[in-house]
Amino acid sequence: MQIIVNVSPQWGIGKEKALLVHIHADMRRFKALTTNNTIICGRKTLESFPNSSPLPNRTNIVLTHDRSFDANGSTVCHNLSELTSAIAGKDPDSVFVCGGEQIYRLLLPYCSKALVTQNDSDSPADRFFPNLNLLPNWTLTHVGEIMEEGPVRFRYLEYENNAVIGL
Ligand SMILES: NC(=O)c1ccc[n+]([C@@H]2O[C@H](COP(=O)([O-])OP(=O)(O)OC[C@H]3O[C@@H](n4cnc5c(N)ncnc54)[C@H](OP(=O)(O)O)[C@@H]3O)[C@@H](O)[C@H]2O)c1
Repeated sequence: MQIIVNVSPQWGIGKEKALLVHIHADMRRFKALTTNNTIICGRKTLESFPNSSPLPNRTNIVLTHDRSFDANGSTVCHNLSELTSAIAGKDPDSVFVCGGEQIYRLLLPYCSKALVTQNDSDSPADRFFPNLNLLPNWTLTHVGEIMEEGPVRFRYLEYENNAVIGL
C-alpha cells in the first residue's frame, strides 16, 4: 500500500474537519494517481468529501466501528481483518491510504511508500501526520522542486518504509 498526504511544515493535515490548504495541482495529482485504483479512508474523512460521498471512479473503502454505517456505495470495513480481506488480490501499489489522522497512524506501518505533498502554510492544525523524518524506518528518497499556486508554495516528497509489515 501507499500512503498519500498533504502536510504543513509542522505535519499538520487538517483543522475542524477540513483540509488546511486546497492546492488544485495537488488535487489533480491525487485524482490521477487514485482514479481506477483503491482508496482507504476513515469515516470522518469520507464525511468531508463532497456530499459525504465516495470519490468517483475508484474503489472507496471506509473504516468505521459503526456496524450500521451506510457509506453510500463504499466498501465498509470495521477492523484490520476486514480491510485485509477487502484488498486481498489487489496490486499493493494500486491501494492508497488517504486519511485522516487516525487512519494514517493505523496503517502507516503497512505502507511501503509515502507520497507527501509538503506545503508552506502556517495555518494551525488539529490533525497531524507522523513526522516521517523522526521515524527510523522511513527514508526520504525524493525531493521535488518547489512550486507555487497563489500564495502557497509546495513540493512533492517521497519516503520509503524499510520495515514494512504485511497486512
Ligand atoms: N491533508 C491531508 O492530506 C488529509 C487527508 C485526509 C484527511 N485529512 C483531514 O483529517 C481530518 C480527519 O482525520 P480524523 O483523524 O479526525 O478522522 P479519520 O481518520 O478520517 O476517521 C476517523 C474514524 O475512522 C474510524 N476508525 C478509526 N480507527 C478504526 C479502526 N481501527 N477500525 C475501524 N474504524 C476505525 C472511526 O470511525 P467511527 O467513529 O465511525 O467508528 C474514527 O472515528 C480532517 O480534518 C481531514 O480534512 C487531511
